[in-house]
Parts: sequence; structure tokens; C-alpha cells
Amino acid sequence: MPNITFVQPTGEAVELEAAEGTSLMRAAVSNGVDGIVGECGGQAMCATCHVYVRPEHADGLSEVTEDEDEMLDCTVAERTERSRLGCQIAVGLEHDGIVVDVPSGQV
Ligand code: FES
Repeated sequence: MPNITFVQPTGEAVELEAAEGTSLMRAAVSNGVDGIVGECGGQAMCATCHVYVRPEHADGLSEVTEDEDEMLDCTVAERTERSRLGCQIAVGLEHDGIVVDVPSGQV
């Protein structure tokens, strides 16, 4: 199973194993990772699953869709070039070891 690390704004890292094909958001929410809310359930309609993907792990991720791009303009924390919606990233074995930073605020 792919391994994902969520790094909190405090620097605390939470490492977990995700079922292949699940989204970053689902993996975080089902494991109680602080700071990932996932209010809309993964419909790209709330932006409360905002994460910053570390540049060294950005390769091979799905492209940002138009819906995701629009929602990324609505994030509470600043949008950067590393910003993604966790619910729009399906985790595959090729993403094993991915590290993402959790923003300081989501709502
Ligand atoms: S869970 Fe709502 S946009 Fe990702």
C-alpha cells in the first residue's frame, strides 16, 4: 500500500498507509489527520482538503482540472504553485512515499 506523509504547519509529520486508488483526502480523513477536513466529500466543491505537494513528489500526479483550479482560488490558506486539492489526487503505488504539507487553515 502506498505510504503518505502529511506534515503539519508545526512540523509534526503523520505517516500512514493508504489503500491504492483512494484519494489523499480520504486517506487523511479516515486516519484522523488534523487540518484535512474534506467537507464536500471529495466533489471539488469546498477546498477544505487543500494540501501543498512537495516539489520532489509532484511528478506523475494527475493534472489540475478546471474545477480543481477554480476551487484552488477559494482556499483559506494562500494558494501556491504546489497547491492541490487532496480529494483530486488518487494515490497509486507510484506515489509511494509522497509528502504533502498541510496548510495552516482550511475553514
Ligand atoms: S473534499 Fe471538498 S474540495 Fe476536496
